[in-house]
Amino acid sequence: MSPLPTATLSLSLLLLLLFSSSTTTTNAHNITRILAKFPQFSTFNRYLTATHLASQINRRQTITVLALDNTAMSSLLSRHFSLYTLKNVLSLHVLVDYFGSKKLHRISKGTTLTSTMFQATGAAEGTSGYVNITNLKGGKVAFGAEDNDGKLDATYVKSVKEIPYNISIIQISHPLDSAEAEAPTAAPTDLNLTEIMFKQGCRAFADLLKATDADETFNQNLEAGLTVFCPTDQVVKDFLPKYKNLTAAKKKSLLLYHGLPVYMNMQMLKTNTGIMNTLATDGADKFDFTVDKNDEVVMLDTSVVTAKIMGIVKDEEPLIVYKINKVLLPKEMFKPVESANAPDSAEAPADSEPADDQTLDDNNGVQGLRSKRLVMAVLSSCIGMLLM
Ligand SMILES: *[C@@H]1O[C@H](CO)[C@@H](O)[C@H](O)[C@H]1NC(C)=O
Ligand SMILES: *[C@@H]1O[C@H](CO)[C@@H](O)[C@H](O)[C@H]1NC(C)=O
Ligand SMILES: *[C@@H]1O[C@H](CO)[C@@H](O)[C@H](O)[C@H]1NC(C)=O
Ligand SMILES: *[C@@H]1O[C@H](CO)[C@@H](O)[C@H](O)[C@H]1NC(C)=O
Ligand SMILES: *[C@@H]1O[C@H](CO)[C@@H](O)[C@H](O)[C@H]1NC(C)=O
Repeated sequence: MSPLPTATLSLSLLLLLLFSSSTTTTNAHNITRILAKFPQFSTFNRYLTATHLASQINRRQTITVLALDNTAMSSLLSRHFSLYTLKNVLSLHVLVDYFGSKKLHRISKGTTLTSTMFQATGAAEGTSGYVNITNLKGGKVAFGAEDNDGKLDATYVKSVKEIPYNISIIQISHPLDSAEAEAPTAAPTDLNLTEIMFKQGCRAFADLLKATDADETFNQNLEAGLTVFCPTDQVVKDFLPKYKNLTAAKKKSLLLYHGLPVYMNMQMLKTNTGIMNTLATDGADKFDFTVDKNDEVVMLDTSVVTAKIMGIVKDEEPLIVYKINKVLLPKEMFKPVESANAPDSAEAPADSEPADDQTLDDNNGVQGLRSKRLVMAVLSSCIGMLLM
């Protein structure tokens, strides 16, 4: 290989690395913090958090929130929707476009339909999930759900906060009625974790959860937020001889060690590296592990093994299920690896590890590994050239 293409390749790879690490940083805004300054929206704010809509809003670049004050919220709450139905109703109040006060009052042709987060999440059917914004006589602006027989329930009250063209918060007078958004919604607890994992190459792990009743603990955490790291079927199979040797209590702890009592998507894991408590954490029993990031690969280091995240089985906030390439072995139960500076133990002597790399059944993982090695190779040849 001539030096020139190598240099070009390594430069573009470096740029790629710089670019990808800078795009994984913080959220665009923090709706909770913005609304905290306005006590008249405290109920609305609290429910944005409870329904996990707040974090979804924060991750969007361009958004308009139609805020309801505490009076409007109590009329909505008096209808006793479940939290999940309420999530749909509130997500109809989040427009996935930027509408400052000026733009609202000067809509071309005086009326428009705009898409909402309810529509964007795929929960809505057909044209429901759109909001009709119409300029009325005398400078009034009216809002209504598209599936509301042309009835416009709410009017513009005032602009609460505008950060063009990132986030706009507009107070409206009344909640928007929509039969579709108000329809009873299955709670995430109705999601069958076992069934999800059965279908996605996590059957062996799901079987263990069921056999030990650990699945009950996982399910109890579903509503508040749950992250599951599921070792793939072959990995679990290879580990079974060791697993069978454990006492019933240790089996359960080991399985609970594969869950976090909080929703952590990939971006959150990448920006919150460090020590992580698990479902097995209980007072003096730490049962924690460290989340590490190497390029775009997220790794879980228990100090006995380091597992890689191979892919996502299911991501439906508040539940996310990842596939990993090793069984997580807690240091409370297994002997930690002695060698101090071997964070990536893929090639480390595998005393207490199940077979790993040959079980990579996920293209992403294999490619991730390959491109990591390529980057390493190119970087070292780049350094070599600099030294010449
Ligand atoms: C809007 O968001 C972008 C991207 O997150 C950010 O760079 C920019 O500073 C934000 N604008 C304002 C006015 O905060
Ligand atoms: C948003 O702000 C609230 C209140 O200040 C804070 O508790 C929360 O951690 C913030 N969220 C993020 C993602 O920074
Ligand atoms: C919005 O609703 C009003 C009142 O029902 C209706 O006249 C108008 O055509 C609707 N706008 C759009 C874009 O559908
Ligand atoms: C979840 O799915 C599994 C497998 O299909 C089934 O055996 C189990 O009864 C289901 N659990 C619930 C609570 O529906
Ligand atoms: C299971 O435990 C027995 C007795 O301690 C031991 O001899 C055996 O090697 C263990 N098997 C595995 C697979 O760890």
